[in-house]
Amino acid sequence: MALDQEELKVERETGELVELARQARERAYAPFSHFKVGAVVECRDGRVFMGCNVENSSYGLSLCAERVAIFKAISEGARDFARIAVIADTQVPVRPCGACRQVISDLFGSEAEIVMANLQGQVETKTVKELLPAPFDRSFL
Ligand code: THU
Repeated sequence: MALDQEELKVERETGELVELARQARERAYAPFSHFKVGAVVECRDGRVFMGCNVENSSYGLSLCAERVAIFKAISEGARDFARIAVIADTQVPVRPCGACRQVISDLFGSEAEIVMANLQGQVETKTVKELLPAPFDRSFL
């Protein structure tokens, strides 16, 4: 029996997504903070886009792994996002920064899942609205 889009969406295990984020982290360019982060965006059609943080000697120009993954996805024509995973070498599963929460909220919607992980194998999943309640969004514009 052919899988429909809805089944495809749930086919990928969370562990597989976290593993892709871990691989993305290995490409992090973080010579200033030495804090490496990996992220992966999963689309509803099953496509994934990986990202790592990319730092700059002008520190404020550095980009977070999540936004690199999301902007890569957008620039490749993807729009229908299901989940995002993020990983770093932290004591507890890493949290996306506030700026990334805003970007995720705008593009994924409030019910999407954010999978947070660390290198020790701990994984925690929360919805966008749990991590960013009462967001600024297009309704204010
Ligand atoms: N960083 C991310 O990539 N994602 C986050 O959500 C938090 C912070 C990066 C930015 C910078 O390169 C390094 O981690 C230290 O802040």
